[in-house]
Parts: sequence; C-alpha cells; structure tokens
Amino acid sequence: MKRLRLGVIGTGSVVREIYRHLYFHSEYAQLISIEGAADPNAQALHAFCDQYAIPRNRRFRNYTEMIDSLDLDAVQVNTPDALHREPTLFALERGLDVLVPKPLAESVADAHEMVTAARRNNRLIVVDFHKRDDPRIQEAAARYRAGAYGQFQLAVWYMLDKLLVADPNHEPRFFASADFAEKNTPISFLTVHMVDAFVQIVREKPVRVRATAFAQKLPALAPTAVRGYDLCDTEIQFESGGVAHIVTGWHLPNTAHALTVQSSRIICTDGLVDLALDAAGCREIVAEGIRERNPLFCNFHADGLVTGYGMSHPGRLLQTIQRHRDGDLEDEEYARMMGALQLGYWATVVCAAAHQSLAEGTRSKRGVISGADVDITELLEGLLGEATHAYL
Ligand SMILES: NC(=O)c1ccc[n+]([C@@H]2O[C@H](COP(=O)([O-])OP(=O)(O)OC[C@H]3O[C@@H](n4cnc5c(N)ncnc54)[C@H](O)[C@@H]3O)[C@@H](O)[C@H]2O)c1
Repeated sequence: MKRLRLGVIGTGSVVREIYRHLYFHSEYAQLISIEGAADPNAQALHAFCDQYAIPRNRRFRNYTEMIDSLDLDAVQVNTPDALHREPTLFALERGLDVLVPKPLAESVADAHEMVTAARRNNRLIVVDFHKRDDPRIQEAAARYRAGAYGQFQLAVWYMLDKLLVADPNHEPRFFASADFAEKNTPISFLTVHMVDAFVQIVREKPVRVRATAFAQKLPALAPTAVRGYDLCDTEIQFESGGVAHIVTGWHLPNTAHALTVQSSRIICTDGLVDLALDAAGCREIVAEGIRERNPLFCNFHADGLVTGYGMSHPGRLLQTIQRHRDGDLEDEEYARMMGALQLGYWATVVCAAAHQSLAEGTRSKRGVISGADVDITELLEGLLGEATHAYL
C-alpha cells in the first residue's frame, strides 16, 4: 500500500503532545511515512527525531532544504501561528499538500494568501480543528441543525488552561519557545478552537466582535514575567443577532482537575444544550490529586495504540490529501474542503478582530483592557478589498 510521504515542519509542543502519536502510534500511522523533519531549534528537532529513529540526513534546520531534498507528498506545518504562511506557500508552490494545526493562520491576510495559493496550484490545505470530531460537538451540531433547540440566542464557552501552559518558569517548559505566551494569547491559542466549534454548530457568520482582557497574573510571574494576557472574553455577534462569549485563559492553578478546564452552554429559543467538555467520564484520584482524563481526545491503549478525536481528525484529513493526490477527490468535495467553513476561516477572522478590538481599547491601571467594537465587514474590506466578497 502506498503511504503518504510526509515532512514535518516544526517539532515543538504540539508534536510532543499530540502528533507524535498520530505519526507513530495511531491507526493512521500505517498510512503515513514520516520522511523527515525540519526545525531551527536543534533541541526540539533531535528530541523528536531521536525518539523515532529519524536518520541524521533527514533532519533539517531549514524547511526549504527538506522540501527540496526529499520526495514528499505533503508537509505538516507545526510552526507558531504567525509562521504558518511561509512554509505553506513554499510547499504549495512545490506541488505539495499541507496540513496545519489550528488555526489556518494568525492574520486574515496570511489566510487569504494561503488559500489563494492552494487554489492556484490545485493543492489542498487542511486544518486540524480536532474538536470537530469530538462526539459531543458532533451531536450538538446535528441536533441544533435538526431544530432540536430552536434559534441560538446566547452562548458561553470556557477554555482555561493550567498556568503551567503559559509559565516559562515551569519545568519542563510546556512550549519550545520561552516567549510563546508573549507572542501568542489565549485568543490565538484557545479562542480559535471554541469559535470554530461554535461556528460548526450554528453555521452563522460573525458580524461584530468586542474583546475584554486581563493582564494581572502573567506580568507578576517570577523570575520570568510574561507580558501577556491571563484571561480574555471575546464577545461575538452573529448574523442572526445571537451573541457568543468565548472566555479563554491560561492562568488556572496547576492543581486544576484538567489541563484544560472547558465547558459550553448554548441557549436557544426552544431549549439549551450544555457540553461538559472537560468531563469525559474518566475521573481518577491519584497521589497528585483528582483529575479528569479525556480518553475521547487521546485514548491510550495498553498495547501502545492511541485513538480518539485528537488522532481521527488529522488522520482523516491526511487520508483526504491522499485521495486528492490519487485524483479521487470530486470537484465538489475539493470546493467544500477549500471553503471558508471547512478551513476554519471565521476563527482566524474573529481572533484578528478580537486582537484589533484590544489594540484599539483602553487599559486600566489594574491591567484590564476594554476593547473597542470591531465590524467584521469593515475589517475584511480594509484588509482584503474586493476579495472580501468571496467570503461574505
Ligand atoms: N501545543 C498544543 O497543544 C497545540 C494544540 C493545537 C494546536 N497547536 C498549534 O500548533 C502550532 C505549533 O504550536 P506549538 O505549541 O507546537 O509551539 P512551540 O513553540 O512549542 O513549537 C513550534 C516549533 O516550531 C519551530 N519553528 C519556528 N520556525 C520554524 C521554521 N521556519 N521552520 C521549522 N520550524 C520552525 C520552533 O523552533 C518550535 O520548535 C501552532 O499553530 C499552535 O497554535 C498547538
């Protein structure tokens, strides 16, 4: 059987936490061949490659060298959000397909350029928003769309990480780069997941965004302080007039019952639906405390196999890439795969709008940033001009 020849660009924490299982321990591992890896950070590169015996001559500090010297079908671009664009464009122009972890890109302009390049080259970009495969989200989406709850009016989604995720003083450090929590925000890292999941359920476009952020805990960390936000509330108005609050942060005490404490309530005209996303029904009491495990996301079997939606979502995306390379993807499916909903385009737009809202907001002496209102159409027209109408 022909395997999809994959090059890995960026071997930081998302590879350590999630994708190494996909590449080597999942049901999809036999469909993929990891041909090589590239990362300018030697420690991150060799830690991953040593663990999986990737030969020295297939380890690169520069992704352009990897793409030019190996025979690849696709790359996975695991670089920080603001660095998705360059490797993606380079790979697409060389005829490769691309998988990126969420989000598609940090900026709307980057996202637009990436999508345009993929279409021009008849290649695919697929984005791993793994929550889309969470059975609870799928059930809520199917029932909402069948009319079980009526029209959504108000929704609140929470996604709060333990402090160790953002704290560069924590050993071992969660992110490969010490300044990750300064270069990224809870909005870019967490809100994107929830916006995308919510949009997959209600299938509406956002029209207005306003954000509020708190910078109180992270700037007080020692010895290394973080100039970043602890907690953010992104208020989104949708085309029906319904409003969602996406509350995300990374400052919960490390004793929290889950790495990510998360839930959602969607209140509609004829009912509501609650998603206890951090309670998958597997609670343990161990020496370190009480913990919720989430085997729906990553289910570690005794024989080493890893299943769960953290594997199945990117795994199926890689299968779609293989089908496209084999010429088996119908035009209609290609168009759907490259549409705004499938690419998670609205998550990028909302997060860009939330960051703009904060940049235009006011900051109190106590570190509370009250953002300005951002109109999505105006934002897109300012960034993309005529091209805006392809998305609206
Ligand atoms: N950590 C998670 O659990 C998680 C979950 C879902 C999605 N993501 C997404 O995964 C992506 C990577 O995040 P991360 O958490 O792994 O960050 P990270 O900082 O831990 O790792 C990023 C890696 O990319 C490398 N890199 C930077 N520029 C590069 C280049 N030009 N070529 C090759 N490698 C380069 C860095 O050296 C680093 O090792 C982001 O888009 C993030 O939003 C992360």
